[in-house]
Amino acid sequence: MKAIVQEKYGSPDDLELREVAKPAVGDDEVLVRVRAASVHPDVWHVVSGRPYVLRLMGAGFSKPKNPIPGTDMAGIVESVGKSVTQFRPGDEVFGETIGGHQWTNGGAFSEYVSVRQDWLALKPDNITFEQAASVPTSGFIALQNLRDASQLRPGQKVLVNGGGGGVGAIALQLAKAYGAHVTAVDSTSKLNMLRSLGADQVIDYTQEDFTRRSVRYDLIFDVPGNYPFSACKRALKPDGRYVLIGHENFGASGKRVFGLLPHFFKLMFLSRFVKQLRGPSVSMPTRKDAMAVLRELLEAGKITPIIDSTYPLSEAREALRHMIEDEPQGKVIITAAEAV
Ligand SMILES: NC(=O)c1ccc[n+]([C@@H]2O[C@H](COP(=O)([O-])OP(=O)(O)OC[C@H]3O[C@@H](n4cnc5c(N)ncnc54)[C@H](OP(=O)(O)O)[C@@H]3O)[C@@H](O)[C@H]2O)c1
Repeated sequence: MKAIVQEKYGSPDDLELREVAKPAVGDDEVLVRVRAASVHPDVWHVVSGRPYVLRLMGAGFSKPKNPIPGTDMAGIVESVGKSVTQFRPGDEVFGETIGGHQWTNGGAFSEYVSVRQDWLALKPDNITFEQAASVPTSGFIALQNLRDASQLRPGQKVLVNGGGGGVGAIALQLAKAYGAHVTAVDSTSKLNMLRSLGADQVIDYTQEDFTRRSVRYDLIFDVPGNYPFSACKRALKPDGRYVLIGHENFGASGKRVFGLLPHFFKLMFLSRFVKQLRGPSVSMPTRKDAMAVLRELLEAGKITPIIDSTYPLSEAREALRHMIEDEPQGKVIITAAEAV
């Protein structure tokens, strides 16, 4: 089969389309013929090998353990392992190809990938493979941080900082689906998109600092983390919540060794004393449960994935560069269909 291969850490230029062996299928795994895979910032992390600490966290010390990038995909079941009960050949599925943290390659930028059945769900008929491939990782992180962090109730005020990005666009729509009043913050060119996704109010971060307004929120869902918590606290109700997703802006944060991890550890420590920071003991949905919830919301039309552009598998480098260098309005997708 054809796949994108990354032999060393570096830049998108180090990615090559090659002929490789089809993956083996474990008893609990499903072999999926990939129709679409999405490009997201965590793909950049593993392609660049930054922050360096990811090399000690399972990605591979001197080079990537799994040479094929990509974690989110949608496709058609080709065959199933002998313990698989939930899927059969011909099913249209979507999901994530890795189970642990996001800083490892998952083999999705290829014609075929082997995936554990629990990490997959049936693709809803009302969305395309490209749309389905854009959802799993960003949907999971949005769901984890929205639903359980705040026990969101109808009418509550939620601010999504970075609402026009991969995670933010789903968080915005989830918050709306739970009945919240949503303010979304992003750059000028993305404001119309935020409105079309259902934002009740939009703020242009190039013009206004949301922490200096008089409005107080029940939840601040912060993707870029461009203000310190002390500033965000000003915009929170006393019993409000703050959750940080964090974005290194493709290396622009300059935190080459540990990335944003020290910042997360600081917030985790502070959460013992500051009730607006979520405690570490909050229960998280399993990946399987999250996929079921996301599938339901997609099917009901409560989440509409926005696609910026699609590239053939052979142009994975260009796709990655577009995400890093431009300001895509929605997700960047790689399609493997041309090579099949
Ligand atoms: N996407 C995933 O599947 C996934 C999964 C797990 C974890 N994560 C992590 O989550 C983080 C976010 O991922 P993402 O896919 O949402 O990234 P993204 O698509 O790049 O979105 C980030 C958004 O934040 C906006 N932004 C930048 N600076 C801002 C500021 N000062 N104020 C407000 N908005 C600002 C960006 O707009 P501009 O156009 O102005 O840059 C962009 O719309 C990444 O660090 C990633 O590692 C992502």
